[in-house]
Amino acid sequence: MIFRGKQLIFRQMTQVLTITQLGNPILQQKAAAIDNFLDSDCQNLIDSLITTVQAAHGVGIAAPQVARSLRLFIVASHPNPRYPDAPMMPPTAVINPRILRVSEEMVKGWEGCLSVPNWRGFVPRHQWIEVAYYDRNGREIRQVFRDFVARIFQHEYDHLEGILFLDRLASPADLYSEEEYQKISNIAEYKR
Ligand code: NI
Repeated sequence: MIFRGKQLIFRQMTQVLTITQLGNPILQQKAAAIDNFLDSDCQNLIDSLITTVQAAHGVGIAAPQVARSLRLFIVASHPNPRYPDAPMMPPTAVINPRILRVSEEMVKGWEGCLSVPNWRGFVPRHQWIEVAYYDRNGREIRQVFRDFVARIFQHEYDHLEGILFLDRLASPADLYSEEEYQKISNIAEYKR
């Protein structure tokens, strides 16, 4: 992975955190806004979330998933064994996000969740979203995300609202075990 060398140097003090699992009530709570996101506690949490999501081969992780009920998540899309077709982007900290506008068009695509291991869902999401958030340096960012990165953003934003991808399924038939998902993931029509 391209970013690995840099992160080992820059993030020597960070740690891989334990990921909160399905059933823990913190995953159903609405997370609190962060006031002092330039302080060391928040900056260390950002670094540890990045280390943790990369160790787990995830493409995103939210603070409630490491038992911190705060409005912070990481979007870290990159091709990896769990998401071979994910676009490459540097890990990005998203603080106190707001979703400003969404497409009417909904697109179904496959998702997993580090808090719901060994399951995949075929989940409807807005095709694009316009968002505002603060980056880790305190700058306010306005951005439009599309397709897979928009999907990650919506999934992680849901974690801040206490919502899991399981809650977004149109039907229980859209929930697959990882084993069954692997059987169909090479079929072209399912590839998104
Ligand atoms: Ni998740």
